[in-house]
Amino acid sequence: MGRTVYFTTPIYYVNAEPHIGHLYTTVLADTLKRFHKMMGDDVYFLTGTDEHGEKIQQVADKQGITAQALVDRVSQKFQDTWAALGIDNDDFIRTTEPRHERFVREILRQVHASGDIYFAEYTGLYCVGCERHMNLSELVDGMCPDHKTKPAEVKESNYFFRMGKYQDRLRAAIEADEIRIRPERYKNEVLSFLGQKLEDLCISRPKTRLSWGIDLPFDDKFVTYVWYDALLNYPSALAASPQGDLRARYWPVCNHLIAKDILKTHAIYWPTMLMSAGIELPKRLDVHGYWLSGESKMSKSLGNVVRPLEFDERFQEHGGIEALRYFFFREMKFGTDSSFTYELFVERYNAELANGLGNLLSRTASMVGKYLGGALPELPAAAAATEPAGRTRAAVERYAELFEARAFHTAIEDVRAAIGAADVFITQKEPWKLAKQPDKRAELELVLYTALEVVRIAAVLLSPVMPRKCREILDYLGEARPLDGSAPFAELAAFGGLKPGYVLSGEVPKFPRIDLAALDVAASAKATASLTTLEQPIGPEITIDEFAKADLRVGVIREGGLVEGADKLVRLMIDLGEGRLRQIFAGIRAAYPDPAKLVGRKVIVVANLKPRQMKFGLSEGMVLAASGGGKKRLCAATFDAALEPGDKVT
Ligand code: ME8
Ligand code: MG
Repeated sequence: MGRTVYFTTPIYYVNAEPHIGHLYTTVLADTLKRFHKMMGDDVYFLTGTDEHGEKIQQVADKQGITAQALVDRVSQKFQDTWAALGIDNDDFIRTTEPRHERFVREILRQVHASGDIYFAEYTGLYCVGCERHMNLSELVDGMCPDHKTKPAEVKESNYFFRMGKYQDRLRAAIEADEIRIRPERYKNEVLSFLGQKLEDLCISRPKTRLSWGIDLPFDDKFVTYVWYDALLNYPSALAASPQGDLRARYWPVCNHLIAKDILKTHAIYWPTMLMSAGIELPKRLDVHGYWLSGESKMSKSLGNVVRPLEFDERFQEHGGIEALRYFFFREMKFGTDSSFTYELFVERYNAELANGLGNLLSRTASMVGKYLGGALPELPAAAAATEPAGRTRAAVERYAELFEARAFHTAIEDVRAAIGAADVFITQKEPWKLAKQPDKRAELELVLYTALEVVRIAAVLLSPVMPRKCREILDYLGEARPLDGSAPFAELAAFGGLKPGYVLSGEVPKFPRIDLAALDVAASAKATASLTTLEQPIGPEITIDEFAKADLRVGVIREGGLVEGADKLVRLMIDLGEGRLRQIFAGIRAAYPDPAKLVGRKVIVVANLKPRQMKFGLSEGMVLAASGGGKKRLCAATFDAALEPGDKVT
């Protein structure tokens, strides 16, 4: 057995569904776990959901359901998503689980008894999106820079944790890399923040204002501040894991993975909390940048998200989520921001997976079939001295070091260099010509062996990133050894591992090209609309806040009928996911003379429009439709995607 490592992702808020921002950190932990397993290490991987606090309560209130119902539903969605995508987490922690609540209360009892918690009045600003107090100096134009909202002013009596007391110890610990924050610039950012006086931390909320939280063990009129509660998931899950108390085994080797949005809570709040509780600090804090969609951060609160399961489905024949995993690690230089767009994804996929790895495998396999009867040749003596073999060895040599430094893009670049060298080798040697000359058999075998061996080793090295696809490739090549550490990595990755005589059979694993033009997202972004004169002039300008007042939802039409005495109206019964149907009268009969045919259609409903009493009955909302030519053109706005009733339209 080699080393022992414990990876954690942030536990995600359940105020909305998983998007590729969450997917990235989760896939990062999954990839690191697979990498370490392959190296023969003992590794444990935790993820979970953060379920208390104001923002959860707010969303539940808005949806008219209890906080418990909301967190149960959304946490399940996270768990189902990770399971469907093959994420290999060892445990999933929910902060509403008794095992967690018990742990938090125990720590609070202890810290309170030690004198590190006191009662006082607080006046200041609070961002619900961040779930933390903010200093004026952090705001941009009076707004939280991450959530683009104005923090609330709060004034109330609360319990405080003596965080300030630990400032010097914290600075020393970070300087000495006792908790190793990487990339370096995040360590520097934290140290520079610690140049100012560190305030104490408010760690309670009065139940009169918020009751959705863990009761303080020493005052049940208060609940625990959500960050104090949430951060403790990392040890609480170990303390009561499905396999018993794993703290002794994994806590000393804890490696947190986060994005820079929560650097402060993890690099400042968290270590001081641990110091006060007398618990060892985590070893490592790896901080990555944001996935941006265009210019802005992909985030639930901004509503510009890509859903993992939809992505997986849409690109199923291209490896689904595995192709995205490849893109993630290839595109993002760890620590800096990167853009996700379908164009960038397709470009990389086509160049590197379809034309690169996929093409090298399929053309070589087909030549082995044609010229060698499908059987793998003996390892030619000269193979190890070829350029592709040299490139492959170079990739293998610094692979572990690059993963250790989280320089995934460089590790993948090395693999690509080996694949590129194999392509060049084939082009130079022209095996299709060698095949025609019986005396060139040895050289033919050299070219084909070398190329396939590059593919085999590439699949070993890329297996943490694309586990399913790489397994397929390895199986196809007759490389049956597992990648879980039971076979030593040095042997798996040594040049010359192909089994002579093994006959390639079955279908060659493929990365079919993606036709960018056929992707409607791309097409719609690229289409240049023909310019015509507007029939209906654009109305006066409104602000985004004014627009945001309209709560637009996906409604599914469950019944449709005519309205007696109203020749323009239809009566629709619409499902907004509220557990009941709404009656809405819509002026679209001219386009839908048989409204029963609308059943099953997904439309856009203005859900918070004041209900209107009409002579036919109450109309509870409005269905959006497009019209022109004096209603000659009329059509309800509908969706053809897999949306659920009540999904928000933004
Ligand atoms: O902050 N790019 O939860 P959260 C990259 N509950 N990563 C992103 C991302 C993006 N655009 N968007 C989200 C919380 N992430 C707290 C954490 S931990 C004790 C409590 C990922 O749902 C990234 O890992 O807002 C980021 O740190 C995390 O999701 C924030 O998730
Ligand atoms: Mg967030």
